[in-house]
Amino acid sequence: MFPLLRRVVPVAVLVFAAQGSAWADAKLDVAMKQLAATSGCVACHSIESGKPGPAGVAPIGPAWQDVAARYKGQEGVSEKLLKTVMEGSNPYASHWKGKVSGLAMPPNAVAIQEADARKLVQWILDLKQ
Ligand code: HEC
Repeated sequence: MFPLLRRVVPVAVLVFAAQGSAWADAKLDVAMKQLAATSGCVACHSIESGKPGPAGVAPIGPAWQDVAARYKGQEGVSEKLLKTVMEGSNPYASHWKGKVSGLAMPPNAVAIQEADARKLVQWILDLKQ
């Protein structure tokens, strides 16, 4: 029994390590989508770009793939976006004017913990088209 285990376990560990990163990505995707759903974000945002909003108008908030494309690589952007998510956006300085039907994002601090929002924003910024 034990000699067999000694041979099987290292192989299993190797296979698992090779798949580890894809597996971790998939697990993170599931967790972040769940967090977005339970925090109410998905009422206004889709993940994939190009989806219409309710009643055929522009989506209420920008698709998160579009957010990633717009801000990718910008210095300090995740902290800026985190602040906007927690405190809401400025309706007089809209970043997505003409592209979305929502005028501003309300503060989400009632719906999500800052630590969770930080993870979600980082995940959003890492999204690919
Ligand atoms: C009631 C609708 C609504 C909800 C709920 C909502 N958003 Fe938004 N969100 C918007 C709108 C509208 C904008 C566009 C603001 C602008 O034009 O500056 C926006 C913008 C954003 C942006 C980009 C901000 C920028 O400055 O470009 C991010 C990131 C974002 N939302 C994440 C989230 C997350 C995460 C949640 C959930 C915790 C969430 N939103 C919940 C409506 C919403």
